[in-house]
Amino acid sequence: MEDRNPDLNPSCQEEPFDYSLRPQRLPEYIGQEKVKARLEIALSAAKLRNEVLDHVLLFGPPGLGKTTLAHVLANEMGSPCKVIQAPALEKKGDLAAILTNLEEGEFLFIDEIHRLPAAIEEMLYAAMEDRKLDILIGQGPSAQTLKVDLRPFTLVGATTRAGLISKPLHDRFGMVHRLEYYTRGELTVIAERSAKVLEINMEPKSAEAIARRSRGTPRICNRLLKRCRDYAQVKGQGAITVEIADACLTLHEVDELGLDSLDRAYLEALCVKFRGGPVGVRTLAAALGESDGGALEDLVEPYLMQIGFLDRTQQGRKATEATYNYLGIKQQGQANLFNA
Ligand SMILES: Nc1ncnc2c1ncn2[C@@H]1O[C@H](COP(=O)(O)OP(=O)(O)OP(=O)(O)O)[C@@H](O)[C@H]1O
Ligand SMILES: [Mg+2]
Repeated sequence: MEDRNPDLNPSCQEEPFDYSLRPQRLPEYIGQEKVKARLEIALSAAKLRNEVLDHVLLFGPPGLGKTTLAHVLANEMGSPCKVIQAPALEKKGDLAAILTNLEEGEFLFIDEIHRLPAAIEEMLYAAMEDRKLDILIGQGPSAQTLKVDLRPFTLVGATTRAGLISKPLHDRFGMVHRLEYYTRGELTVIAERSAKVLEINMEPKSAEAIARRSRGTPRICNRLLKRCRDYAQVKGQGAITVEIADACLTLHEVDELGLDSLDRAYLEALCVKFRGGPVGVRTLAAALGESDGGALEDLVEPYLMQIGFLDRTQQGRKATEATYNYLGIKQQGQANLFNA
């Protein structure tokens, strides 16, 4: 992923002070109205019955607010939240230790839940459904299974790849929510809110300019805002004017649609090298110098599909008419024209 500016790469680790930008409560969590409406009911009902919230699975492309929402839910229930990355759970004992130490009502957030090792995933089934854990003690013929009761807890799982979650795991979540890309209006509100938190002086029209180029993604919106803040301090008077925002985003090669150099390299490869497809994602990844198609599937393709620049078919990836219009080339991948 060398081509993509790491500052703007949604797969990068959160910058430490991003934490301050994370909404803490549901009303501060902008957009995702349908998901919020369903969760509000579930939260109120759980509180009325004095029960824990049912297990929740959140899925959607990177940077749309899954981790944030998991913490918001715990905050709304007034409960602490333990966070674990699925690949960090290597042995059954790792999960057993975490589950048996959960306080009543505590939240356990398992990120990248599609990457749980199979044996650990199976262990979760009984924990989620019956709040029980089977722990094997000893080895060989003398081994014994110990049944342990767990305190009521809420599991929140997050994944960018809903398709990779096994059916038994999927079915044990009481709620499954898909997060959608944000509208420009919602991202404008997010940019304005973040500017306020970071005490940045910004013209209202700049918030719109940043929102327009954020690929429907709050994380990118916040990143662009911070880059504009840098630019405004170094090249301007500190305030993010529309001119400053435009100049900064141009410097970072983020175009009017929010597409960056990697998106464009992907589309160019698809239209020119592979004549519009269909082509497999691995072949595309190889052409772009990627080791496998995973990063493209996570970071590049969902948004291109969302804006109608890409079709994913059984045979492979295909360009659309809109892709050719965007690149300014004729259909059938006329390399000469494009390279001219
Ligand atoms: N609904 C929202 N309102 C305001 N800000 C948001 C919202 N959702 C996300 N953000 C901001 O976007 C950033 C990224 O969100 P978050 O880390 O929750 O995404 P994610 O879906 O967990 O991404 P990943 O799949 O990469 O783990 C957060 O730090 C937060 O500041
Ligand atoms: Mg996350």
